[in-house]
Amino acid sequence: MSTASPDSTRRTVLVTGAGRRLGREIALALAAGGWQVAVHYRNSRADAEKTVADCAALSGDSALFEADLEDEQVTRALLPRVAARFRSVDAVVHSAALFEHDDAASFSYALMERHARSNTGAAILLAQALHDHLARRDAQGAVVHLLDQKLWNPNPDFLSYTLSKAALEAATPMLALALAPRVRVVGVAPGLTLPSHMLDDDKFAQLHKLSPLGRSSTPADVVATVKFALENGSITGTTLLVDGGQHLMKFERDFSLM
Ligand SMILES: NC(=O)c1ccc[n+]([C@@H]2O[C@H](COP(=O)([O-])OP(=O)(O)OC[C@H]3O[C@@H](n4cnc5c(N)ncnc54)[C@H](OP(=O)(O)O)[C@@H]3O)[C@@H](O)[C@H]2O)c1
Repeated sequence: MSTASPDSTRRTVLVTGAGRRLGREIALALAAGGWQVAVHYRNSRADAEKTVADCAALSGDSALFEADLEDEQVTRALLPRVAARFRSVDAVVHSAALFEHDDAASFSYALMERHARSNTGAAILLAQALHDHLARRDAQGAVVHLLDQKLWNPNPDFLSYTLSKAALEAATPMLALALAPRVRVVGVAPGLTLPSHMLDDDKFAQLHKLSPLGRSSTPADVVATVKFALENGSITGTTLLVDGGQHLMKFERDFSLM
C-alpha cells in the first residue's frame, strides 16, 4: 500500500514497528512535521495500513513496508526498498522491539538471539544501510533508536530483552563515531509509557505515578524527544532519558510483573 507520489525535495523517515503503539505515534508526529513516512510493520498489517493513510493525510505521502527484522537478509533489504520508493531516505527511527519475558532460570540462547536480532542487530544494519545510502547522495541524516529506562535501573525480569537494549545502548557511541559525520546516532529511553497485555489500565495508572516527578513518560513526551533528536544537528552518540526520573529509582521487578 502506498499513497500519492514521492517528493524528493522533502525529508523521508523510516519508522519501524509503526503500525501500533509508540511507533504509530512517532510516525504520525513526524508526518505532521512534514516528513514523508515509510511505515514498517511485521504482523500488524491492518494497523499499519491505517498509519499510512493517516500519515499521508498529514504529509501528502507515505508507504507500507513489511519486514521480519529477525531475518538478516530481509533487514538488509529494507532501507534500499524504502530508498527505491521515495528516491531518498534521511532518517530511521527504530521503535520495533521484541519484548518477551525470560529470567536467569528460563534463559535460552534461542530467545536471546531473537531479541538480539530484532532489537540490536536490526538497528545496526539499518544505521549502516542509511550511511551507505547517504554516502551515495553526499548527504547527512540521523538514526534514533528506542531504548528503555530499565537499563539504568535493572531488575531480574526480561533478561534477554534488557541485554539486547543494553547492547544497543553500548553501540550508540560506537556507531556515532563510525558513521560520523554522515549519520548521527541517538538513543531515546522512555519510562513506562503505555499499558501492555500484562498490565491493565488501573495498574498502569498506579505505576505511571512511581517516579521522582510523579509521572513517567507519555507518548507525547517520547515523540517530542524523537523529533528533537532527529532535528538537532549537534546531538550524537548519547541517549536521552524521558521517564520522569524512573531510572533514578529502584524497582524489584519489571513494571508488568509488579
Ligand atoms: N511502551 C512502553 O511503555 C515502553 C517503555 C520503555 C521502552 N519502550 C521501547 O519503545 C519502543 C516502542 O514500544 P512499544 O510498546 O510501542 O513496542 P511494542 O508494542 O512492544 O512493539 C512494537 C512493534 O515491534 C514490532 N516487532 C517486534 N518484533 C519484530 C520483528 N522481529 N520484526 C519486525 N517488527 C517487529 C511489532 O510489529 P508488528 O505488530 O507489525 O508485528 C510491534 O508492533 C520499543 O523499542 C520499546 O522497547 C517502550
